Amino acid sequence: MATFYRFVVLLAWARILAAATPDPARHRGRRHTVHRLAHNDPVNDLASLLTPEGRALLDEVRDTDPARELAVATRLRREHPAALVSAALGQARLRQRAVAKFGERDATRMFFTPNGVEQSTRASVATYRAECLYALGVRSVADLCCGIGGDAIALARAGIRVLAVDRDPLTCAAARANADALGLAELIEVREADVTEVDTAGCDAVFVDPARRSSKRGRIFDPEAYSPPLSWAVSAALGAPLGLLKIAPGIPHEAIPEAATAEWVSDGGDVKEAMLWFGRDVTPGARRATLLPAGAGLHVTPAPRSPTPKYARSDGTCTSPTAPSSAHTWSPRWPRSWRAA
Ligand SMILES: C[S@@+](CC[C@H](N)C(=O)[O-])C[C@H]1O[C@@H](n2cnc3c(N)ncnc32)[C@H](O)[C@@H]1O
Repeated sequence: MATFYRFVVLLAWARILAAATPDPARHRGRRHTVHRLAHNDPVNDLASLLTPEGRALLDEVRDTDPARELAVATRLRREHPAALVSAALGQARLRQRAVAKFGERDATRMFFTPNGVEQSTRASVATYRAECLYALGVRSVADLCCGIGGDAIALARAGIRVLAVDRDPLTCAAARANADALGLAELIEVREADVTEVDTAGCDAVFVDPARRSSKRGRIFDPEAYSPPLSWAVSAALGAPLGLLKIAPGIPHEAIPEAATAEWVSDGGDVKEAMLWFGRDVTPGARRATLLPAGAGLHVTPAPRSPTPKYARSDGTCTSPTAPSSAHTWSPRWPRSWRAA
């Protein structure tokens, strides 16, 4: 019995001591909204940056030189929770990296994840794609695999309503924060879901930008190892009035479906990506190359199939297997910016 009482007394003391121990999150008596959030959870870290305190801190660390981060962090931790300080410094670093893709004005207002910066479409290419879709009459798009919203932002700015879908909770939180930060929340609905389970009926177009990197294997070259696989993305695109896929520019040509027009896009002299177009206004088998920022390009349509092909030899081989029936600058059906400058 005596042991039992000793145990009860010890327990009572332990509780009293625990209550008396200062909460490390309650810094010098200051009240911070973010203290109520769990730390070391990236979604909560992002949420903490969206509070007034988080936004003020982001402004303060905006131009922090990475070489001075430790000193800055030590100073700021006297006034703010450690988790918030490291989230702000990490976000500032990501924003600095994102300037090359999104420009200073947008990058310093947006929210990124490390993968999101890496995988997002640069604004110049996303804007080109969005303007093409708008010129083709598209007013609503299902942006499947939206990431942090690189394409969704450009689509919304072109005047297109976007259903933006991604399965990663942190990525969705960043996409939502970006739509808000850039005043586009009215046009962008972010949905956290697996794209293979989303109903896109009612959208004028479906755009899929599959993940082509994995944390374990790095860059993925096999289109069937994309997430979702290319074959799924092609069937989703074929099921829409207009379907568009973003793929790696080095895709093996034999992996390009016959129904697609394939387009390679370069920006500032670097080949950035390839796109596969499906649906109305698309010439199966056609190839295009577009040079940004000028918008100049080349459009090659395939030779029509005929019983006696122009390039056929009597032994059945071709003089030029790639000889096109026509190679020209843009057809007037495509947007102005697609025509040769
Ligand atoms: C290349 S990134 C998209 C980048 C985006 N277009 C942009 O510009 O920001 C691919 C995204 O696909 C998402 N993803 C991969 N498989 C998915 C799936 N089955 N369902 C939903 N999202 C998926 C990943 O979480 C990743 O954010």
